[in-house]
Amino acid sequence: HKRLGILTSGGDCPGLNAVIRAVVSHAIMTYDWEVLGIPYATKGLLERKAIPLSRHGLDLRGIDPLLNMGGTILGSINKGDTLDRIDEIIASYQYLELDALIGIGGDGSLAILNKLQIAGNWQFIAIPKTIDNDVALTDRVVGFDTAVNTIVDSLNRLTFTAASHDRIMIVEVMGRSAGHLALHSGIAGGADVILIPEIPYSIQGICEHLKELRDNWGRRFAILIVAEGVKIADDSSMYRSSQIPNCGIGQYIADEIRNCSHNELDIRVSVLGHIQRGGIPTALDRLVASAFGKAAVDLIAAGESGKMVAWRNGQVEAVSLDAVLAESPLYVAANSYLVDTARALGIYVGNTE
Ligand code: F6P
Repeated sequence: HKRLGILTSGGDCPGLNAVIRAVVSHAIMTYDWEVLGIPYATKGLLERKAIPLSRHGLDLRGIDPLLNMGGTILGSINKGDTLDRIDEIIASYQYLELDALIGIGGDGSLAILNKLQIAGNWQFIAIPKTIDNDVALTDRVVGFDTAVNTIVDSLNRLTFTAASHDRIMIVEVMGRSAGHLALHSGIAGGADVILIPEIPYSIQGICEHLKELRDNWGRRFAILIVAEGVKIADDSSMYRSSQIPNCGIGQYIADEIRNCSHNELDIRVSVLGHIQRGGIPTALDRLVASAFGKAAVDLIAAGESGKMVAWRNGQVEAVSLDAVLAESPLYVAANSYLVDTARALGIYVGNTE
């Protein structure tokens, strides 16, 4: 018999509840363990809070809403003073009499949880989630697919209003340091320009591309997707600038393109913001969540610790959490297959130098 804790940490994303559901179902039905949900990640641990979870804890006339509910029923925190209070957290873990812990997080929160599990000598298994898709050593993370689909849905809508008015639509999406979200959704959603933090671009390059689309291909409108972490263009050196525009990167690009087109282009900006973090998880995210939750419970049963469940070559495997963190955040490689694909399809993805 085990007393298993589970927490969700960092920014929420669709599919977290599906992970909780999988962990609770498998732990209770297969192993007959007790599962405690720790609210608000390390904050809940510090406050010694734990909610007993049962397979039918949220049962509404036999309906189990966890599989398709966005967010996390446990709550989460994105920032905390956790590492200043390691000793208190370890004492809380002992107080709650936990035998093992499953933590669902992105690279930032998994790094914190890894320090805690080493200091506390906990039995700990990590499950990767993030709409940024920047956790290394796994082909899939919970939440990314839903966020990509949400953006693609917005691009579908924006394309037709853009076409009706011959407009340039700039769509700013999340991704502070990694551009996976912009790149995947830009290709899938038919963008004409994709700007990501990893690849330098020039305003002149964008304007030439828009002109070519109009003059050579009869495209009178265009869709530009810009990751929030893209910086101000440094046309002189072509090197990546470190300057963040005060107005937001989408608006900055709009103003610059307006200037370089001598006010001839009609441009609108949409900032998708936290819409990208909400919604019903896609089938793929539910599948990944279910497989990861099941695998994490089996790893605890097998006595493993300090591992992260990972989707690799179509299978779920355990990888060393230290190894994952050493390579995270995972950036888009400038020579990656998807960047090549985008360029082959005539999308401007920044300078090729
Ligand atoms: O890491 C996930 C993420 O959604 C990023 O893409 C984004 O930059 C950040 O979190 C936003 O954080 P917050 O919700 O704290 O504003």
